[in-house]
Amino acid sequence: MITLLKNADIANKQVIVRVDYNVPYKNGEILDTKKIDSSFETIDYLIENSCSVILLSHFGRVKTEEDKANNSLNPIYEYIKSLNKYEIKFCDTPMGDKLNKMADELKEKEVLLVENTRFMDLKGKLESDNDAQLASYWADLAEFYVDDAFGSMHRSHASVTGIPKFLPSAIGFLAEKEITNLAPIIDVKERPFVVIMGGAKLDDKISLIYNLIEKADYLLLGGGIANTFLKAAGFEVGSSMYSKESLDVASSIMQEFPDKIILPKDMIVSPTYSASEYTIKSIKEIVKDDVIGDIGTEAVNNYKKFLEKAKLVFVNGTVGIYEKKEFSNGTNEILRIVSNLPCKKIVGGGDAASAVKKFGFEDKMDFISTGGGATLTYIAEGTLPGIEVLKSEQENIN
Ligand code: 3PG
Repeated sequence: MITLLKNADIANKQVIVRVDYNVPYKNGEILDTKKIDSSFETIDYLIENSCSVILLSHFGRVKTEEDKANNSLNPIYEYIKSLNKYEIKFCDTPMGDKLNKMADELKEKEVLLVENTRFMDLKGKLESDNDAQLASYWADLAEFYVDDAFGSMHRSHASVTGIPKFLPSAIGFLAEKEITNLAPIIDVKERPFVVIMGGAKLDDKISLIYNLIEKADYLLLGGGIANTFLKAAGFEVGSSMYSKESLDVASSIMQEFPDKIILPKDMIVSPTYSASEYTIKSIKEIVKDDVIGDIGTEAVNNYKKFLEKAKLVFVNGTVGIYEKKEFSNGTNEILRIVSNLPCKKIVGGGDAASAVKKFGFEDKMDFISTGGGATLTYIAEGTLPGIEVLKSEQENIN
């Protein structure tokens, strides 16, 4: 049994909350604060119950010393501080004397945001490989653990599945809401169920398609995922983003499920990702020097036919580089079509959520999940490591 936060014995305790502050961020700007804002309900509740709160989150992927500069949680700290909601402090290291001291000195109703947990991946992937010592170190900083990082619950990392092995734990309000709202796409009762997939993290997503395809009636592809399938089908994709590693899987999926995988018939191409000149080409016309930035109008019209029949839609990722005006039409049009459908519409993933907001369709969607990969994995597998650990470790510790 998972303990819900409202039933947990947390009053006056020091509580670690695993949040997911891995927000879309470009040129020093947080593009969408939804993940951060949605974590406040849990933090507010803890503060009302006189807790002191330690926030742990990852931010991007940290593989080199240089990555640290671009992946600090300091801008997120500045954002939360600017809201004047909490007495909040920032510890610029995820381990060591400074953190120990700040955690020791944290007072009732104060909040401490700790630097990116993935800084611990630099000397051995301690966070990402779920190092038990690291998890136990973090657990020692507090008396209780709350997992509210739904977007990270597919990762069996030290701060997600490691800490609850050492502390009594509960699920936070955001994560609980996600599970409730995603129920229609976990146990699918309304069909056709149409999934639109695009965006980055290609290998992660493509590896889930085998499971997803069991649940979904149609997968409409865009972005680098579509490029990978087109390449696997023998089309030229020029120097566009695609996954070499996933070509074989893509090929097998298309052979096994030719009627379920729907690919764009045309694309918006340009000489480079940054060029402002662009042209629309059928997928047969794409040449070596082209870069694909978006799906074309024929593709949009074809996807519309599938969407109009849908009884349930899940949008994960964007079909083009929607941040660039030249490549934004496909994403805008697909979201417009989805937003006007008379069926249940669920959106997942940071970029998709941010595009929905940018094009003004937020109010027309039934639920916007804070999870990208987590939501896809949850649909594909019906559970997540971060959920399972909250079920299984609870009784051992109490
Ligand atoms: C996300 O943004 O999907 C989550 O924060 C997980 O990030 P990750 O794919 O880097 O683990």
